[in-house]
Amino acid sequence: MRIRENVSLRQYNTFGINVAARYFAAFNNTDELSARLEENPRIHKIIIGGGSNILFTKDVDGMVLKNEMMGIEVLKEDNDYVYVRAAAGENWHGFVQYCIQRNWGGIENLSLIPGCVGAAPMQNIGAYGVELQEVFEGLTAFHIRDMKMQHFGPSDCAFGYRDSVFKKEYRNRFIILDVTFRLLKKPVFHTSYGAIRQELEKMGVKELSVQAVSRAVINIRRSKLPDPAVIGNAGSFFKNPEITVEQFQTLEKLYPEMPHYPVKKYPSSADNDSGRVKIAAGWLIEQCGWKGFRNGDAGVHVSQALVLVNYGKAKGSDIYRLSEEIVQSVQKKFGIILDREVNIL
Ligand code: FAD
Ligand code: EPU
Repeated sequence: MRIRENVSLRQYNTFGINVAARYFAAFNNTDELSARLEENPRIHKIIIGGGSNILFTKDVDGMVLKNEMMGIEVLKEDNDYVYVRAAAGENWHGFVQYCIQRNWGGIENLSLIPGCVGAAPMQNIGAYGVELQEVFEGLTAFHIRDMKMQHFGPSDCAFGYRDSVFKKEYRNRFIILDVTFRLLKKPVFHTSYGAIRQELEKMGVKELSVQAVSRAVINIRRSKLPDPAVIGNAGSFFKNPEITVEQFQTLEKLYPEMPHYPVKKYPSSADNDSGRVKIAAGWLIEQCGWKGFRNGDAGVHVSQALVLVNYGKAKGSDIYRLSEEIVQSVQKKFGIILDREVNIL
């Protein structure tokens, strides 16, 4: 695929930020990828999938590489599991539906998360009580400088809450090419999180199935999160912060209604008490008065304060500045420093 110059990235990021890339190329296979890398060894590279967890704050003085490698393949199966490999360019929700149609369990709670399969391990995507790491078998990645393939198993990825080795020390060093999942032939359902049970009841579901859980998750997500096709956003802008039990106990006296959750240890162990408590960042931001705030075209969503939005022509720097103000006000009121989930470029 040819390299294009001076390309607007507006359609390649769900925030709808209109920056330009000096060079832009999509690739469908590793030969194309190797060729693009070999031809341009000294140019800075940024790899993107669906652009749903990115905030562009300036033009890209380098090459944006869009992974469009496709394909889903069953590698092996036994009595309990099916091992499925999906290429990085596959749409995540499309892959989830593919598995649901075959009654393979494990990722139904991750329905409707935007983006591509290749970015899913990057932040160990999670929703409604399930994280990617629970079904992750391995991945193949391409080292940009060494031009070599490398296999990563679960213990190589340092998965954490919205975190992995690819978001930290290996950021921009590897291009994930495919991901292998270990899915259950006899699904186990996770319905205790959030409003899943109520939604299943509302739907009149008598017998649980991966289809029903997926549908319930989709309904809840549609009622809570803004659709990027309608209003620019990248989902939760910040992570839900984790604080010590002591800090929590002090805050709880002042704010007894503060939503909070126990933090599980990574990787899960028999003793699951991490001594830390997770706080809902959306609640903290709302308490600081930001919900529904708008300055120009940059704003905080009217019904979910954890989601920053672009009403149309906001620049990435406008959204970033707003996020700075939010961080400062939450720190001032609660003594908690919010950490951004979205990748700032
Ligand atoms: P991109 O935004 O294109 O890239 C994200 C990062 O990964 C960038 O740093 C990029 O350089 C890197 N990257 C992308 N592809 C590759 C690759 N092949 N190899 C190496 N690095 C790569 N996330 C959740 O975890 N849970 C949710 O419930 C959730 N809900 C969301 C709801 C909405 C409305 C939106 C807009 C976003 C939501 N997200 C959620 C965030 C986002 O969908 C996920 O992080 C998703 O995995 C990003 O995929 P992407 O292909 O769009 O990645
Ligand atoms: N809340 C408020 N005000 C708000 C928003 C939320 O008080 O404006 C409160 C809610 O009432 C609730 C709590 O905060 O008590 C949690 O809210 P919600 O259930 O909407 O989930 P969240 O913590 O905001 C997280 C993930 C989402 C994921 C959902 C479901 C993070 C950073 N976000 O959101 O992931 O879909 O739970 O599991 O962990 C993403 O990562 O982009 C994302 C959307």
